[in-house]
Amino acid sequence: MLVAVTGGAGFIGSHTVDRLLGAGHRVVVLDDFRTGRRANLAHHAGSERLDIIACDVSHGIFAALAPVTARHGPVERIVHLAAQVSVVHSVANPLVDMQINYGGTLHVLEYARATGVRKVVFASSAAVYGDVAIMPVGEDTPTRPVSPYGIDKLASELALDYYAAVHGVPTTTLRFFNVYGPRQDPSSPYSGVISIFADRAKAGRPLLIFGDGSQTRDFIYVGDVVRAIAAALEDGADRVVANVGSGGEIAVLELARSIVELCGGRSAIHHAPYRPGEILKSRAQVDRLHEALGIVAETSLLDGLRETLR
Ligand code: NAD
Ligand code: UD1
Repeated sequence: MLVAVTGGAGFIGSHTVDRLLGAGHRVVVLDDFRTGRRANLAHHAGSERLDIIACDVSHGIFAALAPVTARHGPVERIVHLAAQVSVVHSVANPLVDMQINYGGTLHVLEYARATGVRKVVFASSAAVYGDVAIMPVGEDTPTRPVSPYGIDKLASELALDYYAAVHGVPTTTLRFFNVYGPRQDPSSPYSGVISIFADRAKAGRPLLIFGDGSQTRDFIYVGDVVRAIAAALEDGADRVVANVGSGGEIAVLELARSIVELCGGRSAIHHAPYRPGEILKSRAQVDRLHEALGIVAETSLLDGLRETLR
């Protein structure tokens, strides 16, 4: 089948493309290369089952997809990953963030409605919950995001539910917790913490922790996330909203120490003030991920860190 992957040149997107091509599907990537890179898909160069189209999804996807669908028939399923992904960046640039993230989702859903797409899988986030006192956090916990990014992910979820209920577009929402692994780009201060810490620790440079490091995150390896995406792309799980996490929790200070140790112990650890909009605790309840999609995270943090560093 033909699957469109928005944000397919990014970290999670390129692993998703690997999996879909490996399963024999035809894939079209829509990416504006804001943070994604063609190099992430370079190993598929020459594949006649992959099209890569430069396109800003928040300006619409009909025209961009037209040449591909003319050649290969309709897009059957969409994995919608394209987004501005940094919580802190969204606090500094809320209008850009909302336009890309919520606007992009609306354009994807309009395309799905108009062309009869058979499944839209959406990359939502643990950020929709905001600061929750009791961990682990289940999907029925009231949502109260504390950042523009969390707000636009929640708004996107509501839009998915509307398109499903009123227009019959089959949708599944995955609330990713903190995803890490190979190809996560460490080059910006807005990048994922493991990619930054790994990059610095390998070079013996100091690690900077925002706050005292007692804030926790539920880190899940990208290979496990891609299995969840593949399961959600199947028929079924319509209108399901599921956490995608490991079910575990680690403090950022402990994470920093582990990465420094794995890299030979040369890096110092420094601290700076907390960043606004960030949550303090995060750990997923993962029963629904298992019950609705048959997925359990399999990669331990230690194994995943070793693989990432390698
Ligand atoms: P990433 O930055 O590597 O991937 C995002 C991709 O989207 C990039 O290739 C980027 O170029 C592309 N993109 C951004 N804006 C676009 C636009 N307007 N039009 C077309 N393409 C655009 O980040 P990632 O970690 O792979 O994130 C993928 C998705 O997963 C995002 O929706 C993100 O919000 C979500 N998510 C990620 C995490 C995580 O921990 N990495 C956690 C929760 C949710
Ligand atoms: C991450 C994702 C976001 C996702 C969310 C889901 C990225 C860039 N962000 O946000 O898309 O929706 O998980 O839970 O992938 N930190 C440091 N030092 C650093 C960098 C970060 O101490 O150099 C700390 C932060 O203050 C934060 C924690 O590490 O407490 C995680 O930060 P970050 O990796 O940016 O992720 P989230 O904000 O949790």
